[in-house]
Amino acid sequence: MSPYRLTRVLPADATDAALRSDVLRGLGAAPKHLPPKWFYDARGSDLFEEITRLPEYYPTRAEREILVDRAEEIAAAAGARTLVELGSGSSEKTRLLLRALRELSVYVPVDVSESALAGAGRALLAEHPDLTVHALLADFQHGLPLPEAPGPRLVAFLGGTIGNLLPDERAGFLASLRALLRPGDTLLLGTDLVKDEEVLVAAYDDARGVTAEFNRNVLAVLNRELGADFDPADFDHVALWDARREWIEMRLRARTALTAKIPALDMAVSFAAGEELRTEVSAKFRPEGVRAELAAAGLDLRHWWTDAAGRFALSLSTPIPAP
Ligand code: AVJ
Repeated sequence: MSPYRLTRVLPADATDAALRSDVLRGLGAAPKHLPPKWFYDARGSDLFEEITRLPEYYPTRAEREILVDRAEEIAAAAGARTLVELGSGSSEKTRLLLRALRELSVYVPVDVSESALAGAGRALLAEHPDLTVHALLADFQHGLPLPEAPGPRLVAFLGGTIGNLLPDERAGFLASLRALLRPGDTLLLGTDLVKDEEVLVAAYDDARGVTAEFNRNVLAVLNRELGADFDPADFDHVALWDARREWIEMRLRARTALTAKIPALDMAVSFAAGEELRTEVSAKFRPEGVRAELAAAGLDLRHWWTDAAGRFALSLSTPIPAP
């Protein structure tokens, strides 16, 4: 049996259909908004990699610190024979987990990007030749048909990406993860934590302007995929802290009144001068909040690890048996 298998859960045109419907809905709404998943074409993924190396962007380093210090503890608590990784972009962090999970036989990376999957799978197989890699090309927000794989299974959702979901989306998503888990399985969840506003805003508005370019890149995606004629230079990057909802918002603010054509949707979108398009929500968490959201989804938080500075947390939870 080949150690690398790929299952397509996404039909080839699903991404295109989803982009169209998100753009139609989000740019037709008031206020305008787009889901952050459309940042990540090849250029956007490169820019995100660059963001993770910026002095201001602490989450990646903080999470890596936890994994370096705690991988053995995490592995002992999970005892997993199968690792399912949602959004497998972060193969460096995966490596730290794989090395510690000594009973592991199957690795299931899940991503919407076939190139990210192939890259992750190949690199890891070189280091772990006995591993079976069963890659899943899937949008984990829309149901996950996991391959039959030996338990216990550890489902890892790292990077703080759960913060990109709005609270009601998060509740639905955590409940769907709970439904995948059997007794003995565990969920490893990365959450960025509430901290000083200046630190948070700087992480999303770096001095070199890499995040600004990442933000504007979503317009280049619309230009290429939908034939739109946005000039990204017409928009300013905005990052702000919403203290009530405890999340960072990224927006693009039109510098002048403008109209863009989106031929693939037979659509024209007008912006007033100063009008903003919300491109991302990145929620920050408190320990009680994480515990409560997990509990509401039928998950019991068993372990909580943070970096030494207390900026980021990894939690390990187990399914609460249904009554
Ligand atoms: C990849 C979703 C965790 O929200 O911090 C980085 C994306 N956006 N800078 C985050 C992001 C702006 C990132 N996540």
